[in-house]
Amino acid sequence: MSYKTLDDIELAGKRVLIRVDLNVPVENGEVTDATRIERIAPTIRDVVAQGGKPILLAHFGRPKGAVVAEMSLKQIVAKTSETLGLPVHFAENCIGDAAIAAANGLAAGEALLLENTRFHPGEEKNDPAFATELAKVGDIYVNDAFSAAHRAHASTEGLARLLPACAGRSMEAELKALSAALEAPQRPVMAVVGGAKISTKLDLIGNLAKKVDILVIGGGMANTFLAAKGCDVGKSLCEKDMIETAAAVLAAGDCEILLPEDVVVTREFAANAPHEIVAADACPSDAMILDAGPKAVAAMAAKLAEAKTLVWNGPLGAFELTPFDAATNAAALKAAELSAAGALVSIAGGGDTVAALNKSGAAARFTYVSTAGGAFLEWLEGKELPGVTALSAG
Ligand code: 3PG
Repeated sequence: MSYKTLDDIELAGKRVLIRVDLNVPVENGEVTDATRIERIAPTIRDVVAQGGKPILLAHFGRPKGAVVAEMSLKQIVAKTSETLGLPVHFAENCIGDAAIAAANGLAAGEALLLENTRFHPGEEKNDPAFATELAKVGDIYVNDAFSAAHRAHASTEGLARLLPACAGRSMEAELKALSAALEAPQRPVMAVVGGAKISTKLDLIGNLAKKVDILVIGGGMANTFLAAKGCDVGKSLCEKDMIETAAAVLAAGDCEILLPEDVVVTREFAANAPHEIVAADACPSDAMILDAGPKAVAAMAAKLAEAKTLVWNGPLGAFELTPFDAATNAAALKAAELSAAGALVSIAGGGDTVAALNKSGAAARFTYVSTAGGAFLEWLEGKELPGVTALSAG
């Protein structure tokens, strides 16, 4: 896929509308994780360095086309300014005369944050009239929000067709990492798919099975696969209506599938609950599986040592509860060690995955950790991301 970058467009003196993802967690008015703000810093720095005026365009929450005070981006202006290290002005509306005047009035080295695009119904409808209003606030469009690229909205898709458009640095890094993992990867490629339910990740499993060499299935969804192999999984989370589907995935033989050979079982869903390690086909009928066992971890570590590329989505057990985070931690640390030694290209992303890898202390040594949730999953499913497609059209 080809797309322009900040190196291909003249930015000096231009108002640069940058679509960023500032959908960050906020508690009691404080940003509790600024990772997404940190990720846009290289783009803002390069735009400023080239003499452009950065104007940030973003959504926050799901206000569904209405003004909802709690979803105002005003509350993250201070953190954005602190994290980016430059003054950030705020416009109470992302379109209209005030926004245009604020954009025109930006001095060198200053940025402007526009109010939540989703306060307008035209945003999610990708209404051309709304996109045209947004386009009046800038001269150039930069999309630096991979994590919102699965939405065909005015600020993620429509605008790219109205202004000279390019990818920001974070978008570029994300696309490079993802294509290194699945488009032209070094083999063998291993995928780890965990999490609770097979039903939410069926498309993903189907797509990955065709592209990777080894597929490790963990977390709650492994129980459904174990049940498909005829194992009694006791009181474990198991999607009975997906057992046939799981059996079909196993029978298809698209790639080698690794299921846990031993598991950690307990009778109580609580941290430090009494637990035991049993073979995967020996879960007591009154117990539930909450983690993969040590033999399963050893088998996975051996496969990791052979693999050249790893894609990881979803924890291997109930990682929020000690000691049921053991398999996730051990496998993540092994992948981190191999990555740090240059033996493995490791890409992780999606929802709980980043939290689990951060908890294990492995995240910093992964080759790339995506901040995207839904967009990362849709990409793993092999779907086209409208925000990315619009960039390559220009
Ligand atoms: C995210 O938080 O994953 C992105 O900002 C997309 O948000 P959305 O799911 O509300 O579109």
